[in-house]
Amino acid sequence: MEDEVLTEIPVQYNRIKDDTTSLSFQMNSDLYTGSLLKTLVASKKAGRILELGTGGGLATSWILEGLDHQSKLLTVENNEALWRIANQQLKDDRIEFILADGYVWLKEYRGEKFDLIFADAMPGKYDLFEETIQLLKTGGFYVIDDMLPQPNWPPGHAEKADAFIHMLGSRKDLILTKLKWSTGIIIAVKK
Ligand SMILES: C[S@@+](CC[C@H](N)C(=O)[O-])C[C@H]1O[C@@H](n2cnc3c(N)ncnc32)[C@H](O)[C@@H]1O
Repeated sequence: MEDEVLTEIPVQYNRIKDDTTSLSFQMNSDLYTGSLLKTLVASKKAGRILELGTGGGLATSWILEGLDHQSKLLTVENNEALWRIANQQLKDDRIEFILADGYVWLKEYRGEKFDLIFADAMPGKYDLFEETIQLLKTGGFYVIDDMLPQPNWPPGHAEKADAFIHMLGSRKDLILTKLKWSTGIIIAVKK
C-alpha cells in the first residue's frame, strides 16, 4: 500500500504554511492528521463540525475538503494574526471563523451539538473536556492529535498526556482507537 497523502494536499495548504511560517508559528497539524480529518468529516452528511484551535487553518483546509454542501464548520482561535490568515485563505460560506478564547467560548456556547470535534487547543482537550464532550452528538467523533511525544512539549506535559489518555480510556460513554501514526491520534466515538 502506498501512502498517497502527499498527492491530495489542499490548494490553500502551501500559502497557509508560508503565512504561518512568517509568524514563526510551529504548531501546524500534519498532513496525515489533515487527511484523516477530511475522511471522517466526509462521513457526516449535513454535518456540524467544531475545530478548537484553528491556527492558520492547515487542518481547516483539509476539513473543508470533506464538507458537503449542507455541512458547517465552526472553528475557534484566540490569536488574531493566525485567525486572519485562516479567514483570508479559506473564505467559504460553510465556515465560521470565531476569534475568541476557547475557555470562554466553550462555557458560553448554547447552539446545536456537533458530529465531529477536532480538539487542537488546551481548552477542549486537557481543559474543559467535560464541557466539550457534552457538545458531541451520540455517534459523533472526538479527534485529537499530538498524543505521541512531541519536540515542543514542555516539562511535565508527557505526564499530563498519559493521565488524559488514561481518563479517556476509563470513560464508559466513549469508544476509542489510539493510532501510533502521524503525531499520535486518538479517535473516540460517543456512545
Ligand atoms: C496546535 S495549534 C492548532 C493548529 C491547527 N489546528 C493547524 O492545523 O495548524 C493550537 C492553536 O490553539 C490556539 N489556542 C491556544 N489557546 C487557545 C485558547 N484559549 N482559545 C482559542 N485558541 C487557543 C493557538 O493559538 C494555536 O493556534
